Amino acid sequence: MNVTEAVETRMSCRAFLDTPVPLDMLREILQIARRAPSGGNLQPWQVHVLAGAPLREFVTLIRSKLDLQPEGEGTEYDVYPPNLKEPYRSRRFKCGEDLYATLSITRAERPRRLAQFARNYEFFGAPAALFFVIDRAMGAPQWADIGMFLQTIMLLARERGLHTCPQEAWASWHRTVAEFLRLPPELMLFCGMAVGYRDEQAPINRLRTDRAAVDELATFHTA
Ligand SMILES: Cc1cc2nc3c(=O)[nH]c(=O)nc-3n(C[C@H](O)[C@H](O)[C@H](O)COP(=O)(O)O)c2cc1C
Repeated sequence: MNVTEAVETRMSCRAFLDTPVPLDMLREILQIARRAPSGGNLQPWQVHVLAGAPLREFVTLIRSKLDLQPEGEGTEYDVYPPNLKEPYRSRRFKCGEDLYATLSITRAERPRRLAQFARNYEFFGAPAALFFVIDRAMGAPQWADIGMFLQTIMLLARERGLHTCPQEAWASWHRTVAEFLRLPPELMLFCGMAVGYRDEQAPINRLRTDRAAVDELATFHTA
């Protein structure tokens, strides 16, 4: 697989097979992803890997809390800016509509939407999970760096036949995640990532999201 194929076949996978991901493969992905660039080579990322019994224990813990606190614990950062403006608002809306349409869930069916959203908190059945944490002293440029680390991991995963789903949804459970991972107070959770083999039969995995045209996002100052 070349880079173009890895980029073009990466998508957010929301249903996984329970086939385990070899631990060596995860380690190798991280070993190579260390080459991701960062301003000043700060490498401002830390990652926690969960699989097997600890992953099951964590998902069970969250499930027990979800019943009491369906909204989670609140977030430490705004996942989206308040009053999201256009065109971002419409893009977000369409992405949600298209996602629920793969499952024939209508706007009126709020309980079904919430149930599907809650699948985030099982890592969509993935057998491996990553949590990305960053030092609270870091600013926007370092948060951009961590994004590059994430994408590098997602592309390396594709090269190995794996799929991924990055998950900011975990920001809503930052306290429980921090406690479970025993994070020191100076580190904060950015997001999680489900990693595993895609369930090819799952309708939700048929979603292919839109992108703006190059001429909408790029200005060429070339002539
Ligand atoms: C940092 C980040 C966090 C995300 N968080 C979630 C999430 O919590 N749950 C989810 O289902 N998708 C999540 N996504 C996936 C986005 O919705 C997805 O990337 C976008 O709609 C484009 O679709 P694609 O990844 O399939 O190309 C996240 C993506 C990124 C980059």
